[in-house]
Amino acid sequence: MSRNILVTGGAGYIGSHTVLQLLLGGYKAVVVDNLDNSSETSINRVRELAGKHGSNLIFHQMDLRDKPALEKLFASQTFDAVIHFAGLKAVGEKVMAAHGCKKLVFSSSATVYGWPKVVPCTEEFPICAMNPYGQTKLFIEEMCRDIYKSDSEWKIILLRYFNPVGAHSSGYIGEDPRGIPNNLMPFVQQVAVGRRPELTVFGTDYGTKDGTGVRDYIHVVDLADGHIAALSKLSDPSIGCEVYNLGTGKGTSVLEMVAAFEKASGKEIPIVKAGRRPGDAEIVYASTEKAERELNWKAKYGIDEMCQDQWNWASKNPYGYGSPEPTK
Ligand code: NAD
Ligand code: WQD
Repeated sequence: MSRNILVTGGAGYIGSHTVLQLLLGGYKAVVVDNLDNSSETSINRVRELAGKHGSNLIFHQMDLRDKPALEKLFASQTFDAVIHFAGLKAVGEKVMAAHGCKKLVFSSSATVYGWPKVVPCTEEFPICAMNPYGQTKLFIEEMCRDIYKSDSEWKIILLRYFNPVGAHSSGYIGEDPRGIPNNLMPFVQQVAVGRRPELTVFGTDYGTKDGTGVRDYIHVVDLADGHIAALSKLSDPSIGCEVYNLGTGKGTSVLEMVAAFEKASGKEIPIVKAGRRPGDAEIVYASTEKAERELNWKAKYGIDEMCQDQWNWASKNPYGYGSPEPTK
């Protein structure tokens, strides 16, 4: 029988891509999402993209903080593992444990490396919080380590994502932030489709190749596949609570990323140079060795593919899921 995975936040950007890879990999996926930051359209499109596997996707519009509803869901079926994207402290681990489901994959972030003294960042680096968001990631990581310490039947994988960008190559699902995007690529994409006049480049005086910040951008489909690899790892009897970086190991500057996007889209991205954004690090990129060695996973795509797929999504859906239905 195929394994049944509960995916919290599965209608969101990373969740929707991961659910698709799960279905294509022969898993059953039960998505719980309150659609606070997403649209049910993403679920419907994932189901379509999954073809004959689409019927293995079940969606519940539900708030994770609704404990009785969560209890009812766990009582109705057995879950082999939970992938938790919904980014909340209420992991519902008590409900999981009560129903004998003690396998968890949690979305952490490279933000826990703060302003690293050296790069690449290995999983052993000291971790810290640069802002309240980072604080939640630190806190939940710590909670997960405590859960495992108090009950060694738990198997938990903490995935530290670097900078997820791009979209599924169909251009049918992608990132659709509400309001003004905080992150670089969603902003660039909105400039390209004419929703915003220009990109503000935060900081041109860093000690980097061109003075702009350097990050490790990773294609969201590679990231999604990293979750499939993590699920397989959860079946390894030796695993307890482990942390893995999901990045490419390559650093790319803001200006390099903009140039790659201009090449992929054929659109000019006007820029305005500005001061540093408070709290931003200079250079952050991953050491990928541990994930390669222990998860047998490695990112396949480079920045050209990331930008092509981002543009394919953007041009077909200039207003995200609120756009008119694209032609496939
Ligand atoms: P997203 O906002 O697109 O997806 C999160 C989903 O969770 C949304 O669909 C939202 O509606 C749902 N959700 C939120 N609160 C909920 C609740 N109480 N009950 C049910 N559903 C709820 O975000 P994303 O970019 O896909 O990120 C997923 C996870 O990865 C988050 O934990 C995020 O912090 C982490 N992460 C993201 C990035 C990034 O750059 N996108 C980087 C590092 C880590
Ligand atoms: C990348 C580079 C900016 C916007 C954060 C979180 C991380 C993850 C991704 C989790 C930096 C520059 C950006 C703009 C710019 N999120 N930039 N103009 O800051 O590396 O990481 O988001 O949910 O955990 O810490 O990503 O995309 O915001 O910035 O010049 O309008 O682009 O200064 O150098 P960041 P980012």
